[in-house]
Amino acid sequence: MHKVRGQSVVVYAGTLALALGVSLANFAKASPQGSGGSGYQLAKKVTLGGMGGWDYLNADPVSHRVYISRGNHVMVVDADGNVVGDIPNLMGTHGAALAPEFNHGFTSNGGSNSVTMFDLKTLAVLGDTKLPDAVGPDGYVYDPASKRVFTFNGRSNNATAVEAKGGDAIAGSVPLGGKPEAAQADGAGHVFVNIEDKDQLLEFDSGTLKVMNTWPLAPCTQPSGMASDVSHKRLFIGCHNNLMVIVDFTTGKVVTTEPIGTGIDADGFDPGTGFAFASCGDGTITVVHEDTPDKYTVVDTIKTQQGARTMAFDTSNHNIYTVTADMTPAPAPTPENPRPRPVIVPNTFTLLIYSMSPHASVGGAENRGASATVRASTPGAAGNASVGASSNSEGTGSLATQGKALYESTYMCVGCHGMNGEGTDLAPDLVGTRLSADEIAKFLEKPSADASDKGMPDIPATSPDLKPLVAYVLSVKRTLAQ
Ligand code: HEC
Repeated sequence: MHKVRGQSVVVYAGTLALALGVSLANFAKASPQGSGGSGYQLAKKVTLGGMGGWDYLNADPVSHRVYISRGNHVMVVDADGNVVGDIPNLMGTHGAALAPEFNHGFTSNGGSNSVTMFDLKTLAVLGDTKLPDAVGPDGYVYDPASKRVFTFNGRSNNATAVEAKGGDAIAGSVPLGGKPEAAQADGAGHVFVNIEDKDQLLEFDSGTLKVMNTWPLAPCTQPSGMASDVSHKRLFIGCHNNLMVIVDFTTGKVVTTEPIGTGIDADGFDPGTGFAFASCGDGTITVVHEDTPDKYTVVDTIKTQQGARTMAFDTSNHNIYTVTADMTPAPAPTPENPRPRPVIVPNTFTLLIYSMSPHASVGGAENRGASATVRASTPGAAGNASVGASSNSEGTGSLATQGKALYESTYMCVGCHGMNGEGTDLAPDLVGTRLSADEIAKFLEKPSADASDKGMPDIPATSPDLKPLVAYVLSVKRTLAQ
């Protein structure tokens, strides 16, 4: 494992977060919780034990599984920390990218310069693909626009593109000019990656594999973790000089910086609450609230545990997952091992689960509307989201196009309803829906109990994403049903 590591808290797919246009944090601030301004509290501490150190974690917002890389295997746990599976026989793995639309996961294996593809539902290993130009694949991201998994190769300073559908075709590689760390995809064909040793942010086109921009990140040094707010076009980058820099990814400009702890490894963003997170090895997770895309406030510092440098964020249940272990002091240096590292005390590997206090939860229908306050800065957020007949007139095309991106990446509707709304065993097709525009909007605002239980997200009436999603569902209904 590398000394320093970023993480795609990229939850699913790496395309983050689209803001729901609703901010809970104002609510959280108005009614302070015992645990701090964010309302986050330790919900559960689970001793997992087992062999291996650890690196990136990911949470899957549909199944609520968490993937924990442990060097030669990936442990898979459920939302309560129960082990539900394991992907064995890996060499130096750093974590797993998730491509839900193909039901494929891909572990990034630094020791064998390969990705191992597995079935997201059964966790069965489907194959191992060598990455020809890669040395030391480490970070990773799934890009739904190109339908490729990218590995970021720490020792060959490049990225490799693997076609996620078949899992065995290499589309090519991208020279990065420095050591890559965490990355994000915007769902529209752009991938952003931290170049740790150059203090840079690099953007490439996921289709053509051409580098588009390289931007300095000053005052940030050693950028490591990264998360994104795709709807407001912001990246949250955790830097080793105790800063989170917030970048406008359309211009590369650093919008502002906020203080964080020491030993950053991962960031996360919650489009539901507007919270950005930075988890650090000093045992802290800083919570920064996006008041507007250009104005931020540190609302909380969650005390975790020494060593808990990395985290995963589940955008649908809002849980934060982090791991750590007790360490022995490093042994004395010897000529063979001049820089010995501390060693994990056996069976102390621990998962910490933080959740929002119940009355601050965004998912609960009972408090939605009452507690959620509209993000004042979001243009149109307060507008009437009812769609009606106008969705069939001019302009629906672009609304539906926006909705398609939301459907495919931000909310992962594809994972349940299928690529073209054809349905899967998790959810019915949308092609044959009999619902009208208004009924679709109502269903998205408050899904049926069955849909909610299965994990269908709810889209508040105040969300700017509601109209485009309804337009997209209608377009699927129209084009395929007629
Ligand atoms: C975790 C799985 C899951 C996800 C993700 C999901 N849904 Fe659903 N959805 C369901 C299930 C299950 C139903 C059927 C519920 C029922 O019959 O009561 C459903 C029903 C619907 C319906 C009603 C269809 C009808 O004709 O009655 C619409 C519309 C819909 N979903 C749209 C969406 C959109 C848009 C998204 C993304 C924002 C989405 N869903 C994400 C599981 C999901």
